[in-house]
Amino acid sequence: MSEALINASAAETFTEGDRADADFGHVLGQGLDASHGVVLYVEGVSVSFDGFRALNDLSLSIDMGELRCVIGPNGAGKTTMMDVITGRTRPDAGRVFFGQTIDLTRLNESQIAQAGIGRKFQKPTIFEQLSVFENLELAMKADKVVRNTLFSRLSSEQGDRIAAMLEQIRLVTDAGRLAGELSHGQKQWLEIGMLLMQEPRLLLLDEPVAGMSDEETERTAELFLSLAGRHSLVVVEHDMAFIGTIARKVTVLHEGSVLAEGSLAEVQNDQRVIEVYLGR
Ligand SMILES: Nc1ncnc2c1ncn2[C@@H]1O[C@H](COP(=O)(O)OP(=O)(O)OP(=O)(O)O)[C@@H](O)[C@H]1O
Ligand SMILES: [Mg+2]
Repeated sequence: MSEALINASAAETFTEGDRADADFGHVLGQGLDASHGVVLYVEGVSVSFDGFRALNDLSLSIDMGELRCVIGPNGAGKTTMMDVITGRTRPDAGRVFFGQTIDLTRLNESQIAQAGIGRKFQKPTIFEQLSVFENLELAMKADKVVRNTLFSRLSSEQGDRIAAMLEQIRLVTDAGRLAGELSHGQKQWLEIGMLLMQEPRLLLLDEPVAGMSDEETERTAELFLSLAGRHSLVVVEHDMAFIGTIARKVTVLHEGSVLAEGSLAEVQNDQRVIEVYLGR
């Protein structure tokens, strides 16, 4: 499928009804077989650090196009879960699959990124001495298909992609500014934009609104809602007001496994969740 067609599909979002019959693997690209509508399977995963079980028989799955929120007390294993999905930490037991066929436990971190899983760390890894525009340009060209054009002029299609991304992350009027001059929240958006330039199918975001102003947090919620459907998102956050604005399905982790899963209202009314997390 041509790049133009892939971009054209960006405008569409998948509704619940579409999910059953849409051929996601075909729409969203090469290598990933998400024909069952599931982008990520985590099954029976355990990870121990010096005898301490950070993940304990953890199982969950994420649907294609889903926006999943993951909450839970400090030390519940949320970041460790992301470390396992992205190949930074190897599980002692269990299975981790990207779609039906890609065994993530057999790939290294860069292969997993290439396969289409992007991860946002808390501290943005942007180039502060370059402009916002140049940061997005570099991120786009990190893709091996266009790497050989690093010193060439942008094609009009590449220019359009950057322009569209600047709009999506609300940095149009800041395009020429040095990234180092941006506010904390704007730096976070830029990093998200850089990840998105590589067209990830699954995006993992660990505490994305920590340190943001209320207004930046609201705008980030709008951004995530606009990304769901085209991308699958897993968002770890402690900010419950933020979770409240974006939540569809929520997973509560506790002591390395799933304590509860459901709508925000369902998990908020779950007595065990109140005891270990929300009632504190
Ligand atoms: N590399 C490591 N070596 C040793 N222990 C670790 C390592 N990484 C995580 N842990 C431990 O595993 C447990 C789970 O940590 P993790 O960072 O996944 O929790 P979390 O849910 O992300 O918490 P928080 O909400 O505070 O970010 C913690 O007790 C932590 O100290
Ligand atoms: Mg964490």
